[in-house]
Amino acid sequence: MQSFAQAVASWQLAAGRLDLPWQKFSSPYERLVSEVMLQQTQVDTVIPYFQRFLEKFPTVEALAEAAEDDVFALWAGLGYYTRAANLRKAARYVVEELHGCFPTDAEGLLALPGVGPSTAAAVAAFTSGEAKHPMIDGNVKRVLSRVFLIDGRIGEKSFEKAVAERAYRELPESEIISPYTQGLMDLGSGVCKRTKPLCDACPVAQMCRARRTSDPSQYPGKRLP
Ligand code: ADE
Repeated sequence: MQSFAQAVASWQLAAGRLDLPWQKFSSPYERLVSEVMLQQTQVDTVIPYFQRFLEKFPTVEALAEAAEDDVFALWAGLGYYTRAANLRKAARYVVEELHGCFPTDAEGLLALPGVGPSTAAAVAAFTSGEAKHPMIDGNVKRVLSRVFLIDGRIGEKSFEKAVAERAYRELPESEIISPYTQGLMDLGSGVCKRTKPLCDACPVAQMCRARRTSDPSQYPGKRLP
């Protein structure tokens, strides 16, 4: 039988999002810029910002040399300006301390300002096929909690721990880590929706444990106010 990861990865390549502007790039500078923008902002909003940012700062060297205010100007409207300041610091670090050699492994990426475990895992998966750590965002948590029936509420320690353990357990081999990682996010945003999930369109509906309950949308439990 196909594994969960295989099913997600083949679905991504056949039916997932394949035309997002950052998917044209396989190098870490562009993929880090997009992942940092996507940390707190929706895909549709990010697209024009990503394109303008890369036109102005096409390389890590260009960003490293930029004045902070010029970086902020291109960030206006995205909010969370710390992300922009950290991205510029990360570029300076790569140029000045790493001689322009941008890391593509999660460990190296994690050493950059503003890069947390999920962003590091995503960029590593997309740029080097490293499959050591999972990307876990809200969409991914929803998919995993449903398919594997993980109880608890978002934000709760035991829930977060169970999701992380499951995410590690399901990591596939390097060959499919990139479509798998993107596929989990695509599934979460387009199919395994928070309310009214489109189970008929889901590539892993057969193995989804929440689907066998009376109401899959009850998973994951809501964050306590
Ligand atoms: N959110 C975070 N990373 C993303 C990506 N690569 N594609 C779509 N949404 C995302």
